[in-house]
Amino acid sequence: MTKVKFVSGESVPVEMHKVRMVQKIHLHPVEDRLQAMKEAGFNTFLLKNRDIFLDMLTDSGSNAMSDNQYAAMLQADDSYAGSETFYRLESVLKDMFGTKHFLPTHQGRACENIISEILVKPDSTVLMNYHFTTSKVHITLRGGLVEEIIIDEGLKITSDHPFKGNLDIDKLEEAIARLGAENIAFVRLEAGTNLIGGQPISVQNMREVAKICRREGITTVHDASLLADNLYFIKTREPEFELADLREVTREMGMLMDVTYFSGRKLGFARGGGILTNDDGLYAKMRELIPLYEGFLTYGGMSVREMEAMAVGMKETLDFDVICQTPIFVEAFTDELTKKGVPVVTPPGGLGCHVDAAAFCDHIPQEEYPAGALAAALFIISGVRGMERGTLSEERRPDGTEPLAEMELVRLALPRRVFTLSQIKYAADRLDWLHQNRKLIGGLEFEEEPSVLRFFFGRLKAKSDWPDRLAEAFRRDFGTSL
Ligand code: F0G
Repeated sequence: MTKVKFVSGESVPVEMHKVRMVQKIHLHPVEDRLQAMKEAGFNTFLLKNRDIFLDMLTDSGSNAMSDNQYAAMLQADDSYAGSETFYRLESVLKDMFGTKHFLPTHQGRACENIISEILVKPDSTVLMNYHFTTSKVHITLRGGLVEEIIIDEGLKITSDHPFKGNLDIDKLEEAIARLGAENIAFVRLEAGTNLIGGQPISVQNMREVAKICRREGITTVHDASLLADNLYFIKTREPEFELADLREVTREMGMLMDVTYFSGRKLGFARGGGILTNDDGLYAKMRELIPLYEGFLTYGGMSVREMEAMAVGMKETLDFDVICQTPIFVEAFTDELTKKGVPVVTPPGGLGCHVDAAAFCDHIPQEEYPAGALAAALFIISGVRGMERGTLSEERRPDGTEPLAEMELVRLALPRRVFTLSQIKYAADRLDWLHQNRKLIGGLEFEEEPSVLRFFFGRLKAKSDWPDRLAEAFRRDFGTSL
């Protein structure tokens, strides 16, 4: 239980850990934040930590580790080949997912590279509930096509559907009939669908997808990077699993899918990543690529200390008291914003709070990147760093035209066990002010646009002097630069 009832009747989230090591952060004046944003080309990825107050860019590699994880790092057994550390990690993961094989990689996208190289042929299609930026590029770079067959509810900003990340079974049957099973490279299910607001998939949905794919001989791939939050939602929203042991749920998922992969920067409060499978043939093929791209089979690009931390972190992931902290805080954040009339994705998902930039900045055309502009504006007035998850995060088509994203979101990620409730209240308060002054936010345009994954290091500029006017309004209203 991490939500307790107060005398007022209010349900309040309470942390099930105590903080024993801290890191100083700084709240700089608005003039400095404005300057930092300009120097970062209005791209929050290009800001420096020293300029940031609350870093809600991502939960990737920024989760707080536990005392037990640090303790385990001290027993790391360093060796190029055959380290005890690797065998400890391998045994934890095989047990967790009930699989025969584990292949280590340096992070999640490395798994996507290897899986795509083995399974994607030119003009083949990957069906999925929803893409993640790196997963899509690895497929399309090999001439594959991506088709998203998420349930319609998944793309509605506000909803009360408990599993908005579910794959649409009718659309799956239709796509198989239309494309032919032999032209489908694989079906990919992403737990906690990142780009649509950290929305979960249900076990029931996985079972149905697995059954159809087995019947048709189509390989199934599970991206389990955001599994921790997804497990919380299975336990709290899928009645069959209310009393279930998370160990059993995870094992069932591991057995249902032909291949499971994860980013250890998210799952397991660590770094690195890995691929799990029960399929001997696929294992043999993927194994050959590990020494080529990652490192030897007993480290795959990870340091032994990372592997020790991951082994302990994976066990902590199966502890409900541990995994409920993020979703409960995301819910508190989302509820606070909803009360203030700030448009957000509902129901609250995992990973972070997702602000609907299309509604927030409905005066900014999608071609001028409303979510990018909102993320920049929020940093200027608060020092809170979020991430654009909209049109900027899309890839241009081969003919150079720009697809407009289905959702324009600003993600305010809550790295696990890092922020306190008062810090969340601060972020919500500043978003409230920004919402009331939203017409001050203007559009952005590219100054320098990379050809692949442009959101990472592309540079933009404001289409007018709106950032200066926004900073001025902030100073006037608050009577201070902080
Ligand atoms: N799959 C999902 C669902 C992810 O969220 C990520 C990373 C990856 C794969 C790739 O893993 O970063 O270890 O290579 N998401 C990060 C984020 C980058 O900020 O959401 P990676």
